[in-house]
Amino acid sequence: MTSTSDIIRNRLELEGINLPKDLFNHTIEVLTSHESVRGFLPKPLPDKMLQAITTSARSAPTSSNLQAYSILVVKDGQRKDRLAMLSGNQQFICEAPVFLIFCADIFRLKYVTTQQGYRFAADTLEMFLLAAMDASLSLQNALVAAESLGLAGVPVGSIRNDPKAVAEELKLPKGVFAVAGLSIGYEREAVRRGVKPRLPEQVTVHEEQYSTENIDHYLNEYDQTMISRRTYDGRRVSLAGEPEKDGVDYGWCEHTARRCTRPETIAVSASLRENLRKILEEHGFSLR
Ligand SMILES: Cc1cc2nc3c(=O)[nH]c(=O)nc-3n(C[C@H](O)[C@H](O)[C@H](O)COP(=O)(O)O)c2cc1C
Repeated sequence: MTSTSDIIRNRLELEGINLPKDLFNHTIEVLTSHESVRGFLPKPLPDKMLQAITTSARSAPTSSNLQAYSILVVKDGQRKDRLAMLSGNQQFICEAPVFLIFCADIFRLKYVTTQQGYRFAADTLEMFLLAAMDASLSLQNALVAAESLGLAGVPVGSIRNDPKAVAEELKLPKGVFAVAGLSIGYEREAVRRGVKPRLPEQVTVHEEQYSTENIDHYLNEYDQTMISRRTYDGRRVSLAGEPEKDGVDYGWCEHTARRCTRPETIAVSASLRENLRKILEEHGFSLR
């Protein structure tokens, strides 16, 4: 068992990257120390702290300044419990004092267009992508702000498991779709495992043009890292109707490949996997 003092809390240290002192500022320190935390103390956040977080979220860049997103701040215990139920029963959602929900929002754009006396014609697939990106960027800003204030958090994609029930719970008008949640709060003791290793830089960062050079070598390197960290112990995904293969390392590659053969292990809700287009259309996003 790894003790709290053994864990590595910063990616630069984990990867042996030495930055000159002037580059290792507070922002870089916070960003490279990110770890999703899933256990919180029952301690409310001061209002001003929450305002600092939502103001940071609202400061994210936004496509064409359309600001096609909204943030719902949920503190009510019973509402958090109901949202947790709708989001795969993840207990940390109930524990965290605040659950923020980041929505793609074209309701306001439709409203403004109509109020100005015009017909809204921007209900396109691109508009949904744009609104989902605006929501995602504001989520990330909120998370970084929270972490910079000594709080911890975890994004919650499973808020999309049951979009209709979530929309009812939050009274979302047509044109507003909950893209992801974010639980934030003061972390409980001993819930960290250390920053999670990422794929080697050579795999995800490309110089000038996309390259797959030495991809197998780097993927194997990452597999060995994740295996030595026992990341997938007790979390193996069974193969869809196929017998287990002998002698295959169960690392990131095998885990990820198995998940990609069984999309229900990525998006649990069938309505989301198979019917997202229809659901989005019902929620006021036409994807022409
Ligand atoms: C859009 C998004 C949705 C996520 N949804 C969940 C979730 O529903 N439950 C959960 O426990 N973690 C969730 N996560 C956290 C990821 O599992 C986590 O970021 C990833 O494993 C990497 O670990 P790290 O954040 O500790 O570096 C989500 C992350 C993102 C970016």
